[in-house]
Amino acid sequence: MFDAPTAGKKKLLRSLAGEAMDVPPVWLMRQAGRYLPEYRATRAEAGDFLSLCYNSDLAAEVTLQPIRRYGFDASILFADILLIPDALGADLWFATGEGPRLSTITGPEGLKKLKGRDDIHDHLAPVYETVRILARELPKETTLIGFAGAPWTVATYMIAGRGTPDQAPAHALRESDPETFGALIDLLTEATIEYLDQQVLAGAEVIKIFDSWAGSLKGQAFHDFALEPARRITTELKRRHPGLPIIAFPREAGEKYVGFAKAVGADCLAIDTSVDPAWAAQHLQPDGCVQGNLDPKHMITGGQGLIDETRRIVDALKGGPHIFNLGHGITPEADPENVHLLLEAIRG
Ligand code: CP3
Repeated sequence: MFDAPTAGKKKLLRSLAGEAMDVPPVWLMRQAGRYLPEYRATRAEAGDFLSLCYNSDLAAEVTLQPIRRYGFDASILFADILLIPDALGADLWFATGEGPRLSTITGPEGLKKLKGRDDIHDHLAPVYETVRILARELPKETTLIGFAGAPWTVATYMIAGRGTPDQAPAHALRESDPETFGALIDLLTEATIEYLDQQVLAGAEVIKIFDSWAGSLKGQAFHDFALEPARRITTELKRRHPGLPIIAFPREAGEKYVGFAKAVGADCLAIDTSVDPAWAAQHLQPDGCVQGNLDPKHMITGGQGLIDETRRIVDALKGGPHIFNLGHGITPEADPENVHLLLEAIRG
């Protein structure tokens, strides 16, 4: 049914256009990362993680490393979801071994200190340059994915000034000062549109929106702060770039995954490890492509468990459009050899 419009297209784009394939395209979240010795060497050369993100040549180099090693079907721009707060003036730094730190936003004064949505581009220019280098240098069959964090997830870091297990500070501000919270979500939504627009103009072929903490929003709050910002971003990007494929990842949304892609206008729904792939085939694939969802722990343990679980996911989702991925990012403890094992289990 999809043969004509997708003929000659890159494999990942065919899945995003709705085609079911015997061998799904595959890439891994955080595929450029600390499990790879060549990544660790380039990061050391850059000095630290943020310097690596803002060094276009080195960021392009680490983006290309996993493509050279494994020949994934897609390459994801090397950057971070917290570069937007950094560009807005939130004083981002990474404390070694402890994760991100930022200034906190506890009320209207914190919000007033931030820059406007149109003032981010000078700061983010190196990211756009990374995309331009990649668009030139990637193999012709590899799809280039640009990305941003969803407003809620980014806001959780900006409000708390760090990662939090339950996003409590962000929920507290949402309840105690809905005006400041709402204005922050609006600013992030608008800045994210401009940021992603620039990535597409620089050569990103697909956009992914990471809402890693969507699962902690319930009821109306999920609708207002996970679904609605994703819908605004998707709608405006597709208005500016008709046909641009978009992947949404409202992680741990549970039953709220159902209908999410349709409601926001995304072409693909990425699912976390808690979702049964057979259930996803029944309830999510009728709306479009599904991406996922091997547990990243298999990339540490490997062996027959990795092979069996990979085949179970491929089999469950092969009746519809599927992009193989993990349910969350590959971890630093992963064994690079297990990626070869994974690819063999998928591609034979
Ligand atoms: O390869 C890729 O996937 C592309 C690059 C990418 C990174 N972060 C690089 C990175 C992407 C898409 C992200 C997304 C991201 N960043 C998310 C959403 C996805 C998710 O994991 O839920 C979030 C929440 C962040 C914020 C962030 N960045 C945290 C909390 C941390 C520290 C935790 C950790 O894993 O160290 C980072 C750092 C980070 N971002 C690293 C990488 C490769 C590790 C940094 C290092 O080299 O020390």
